Amino acid sequence: MKQAIIAEKLSFAYPPAEDQPAVPVFDGISLSIEEGSFVAVLGHNGCGKSTLAKQCNAVLLPSGGSVTVYGMDTRMEALLYEIRRTVGMVFQNPDNQIVANVVEEDVAFAPENLGVPPQEIRSRVEEALRVVGMEDYRRHAPHLLSGGQKQRIAIAGVIAMRPKCIVLDEPTAMLDPQGRRDVMATIKRLNAEGITIVLITHHMSEAAEAQRVVVMAEGKIVADGKPGEVFSQVELLRGVGLGVPDTTALLYELRKCGYDLPLDALSVEECAQAILSHTF
Ligand SMILES: Nc1ncnc2c1ncn2[C@@H]1O[C@H](COP(=O)(O)OP(=O)(O)OP(=O)(O)O)[C@@H](O)[C@H]1O
Ligand SMILES: [Mg+2]
Repeated sequence: MKQAIIAEKLSFAYPPAEDQPAVPVFDGISLSIEEGSFVAVLGHNGCGKSTLAKQCNAVLLPSGGSVTVYGMDTRMEALLYEIRRTVGMVFQNPDNQIVANVVEEDVAFAPENLGVPPQEIRSRVEEALRVVGMEDYRRHAPHLLSGGQKQRIAIAGVIAMRPKCIVLDEPTAMLDPQGRRDVMATIKRLNAEGITIVLITHHMSEAAEAQRVVVMAEGKIVADGKPGEVFSQVELLRGVGLGVPDTTALLYELRKCGYDLPLDALSVEECAQAILSHTF
């Protein structure tokens, strides 16, 4: 299997305030993200998720160890442009990512900056708007759209660069439930089309939709595996300040009452089936 992103013994500390010692965010973590996979990253506030995201497209560079993106070492300055084109980033606040007054101009902004020819830009913008389901809004003013629609326009802007990987840092944090569902559906569609997805999220239900869940705590990886495997570790997750999906919490409580139920039935249907098929 080819790896999209490889962090090897990655260490990083932000420049310290005057007279203060530098506090490392990471002290030698290693993580590989397979090409074409959909990985969710979970962790409580301040554990280093956004810092890790920024290491993935050379916004931040390692203090020690290395980050390699599709074979490119992020410290190679000459590769910066190619790295940024290969790994796109989507942030929490869609308002901060809008740069133009018309949707199609906003989506065209990144490929224009990359020097893509105008004819090609047109087709990329059309394609990107279609992928996020916003083609009917091409002439609309982005600032008048809903949060979920704005976030899908921000994602379209990234798609128009034709990245191989998209890192999304809590892209649904400011959205209502409908906006969250729409953005999650868009993310899953992008992954189905072959784009590697790294989704940083606080929502257990969103992480449960990924193929793999990585849990961070205090700059370390404390759990890593399929969603069912990771969420089964209820005590570990609660110990690092995280919750578990409602389905897991229900099964966990039932187990505590002595019922021998599996903890990895994640979806509501699987959970209901596990309880139904249990002989009480
Ligand atoms: N620009 C900065 N300068 C100095 N320290 C920073 C900077 N950005 C983040 N930090 C510190 O680095 C640590 C990791 O921060 P980071 O933003 O990566 O966490 P996070 O997991 O994304 O948190 P959240 O869930 O709140 O988004 C925190 O202790 C934070 O205070
Ligand atoms: Mg963050």
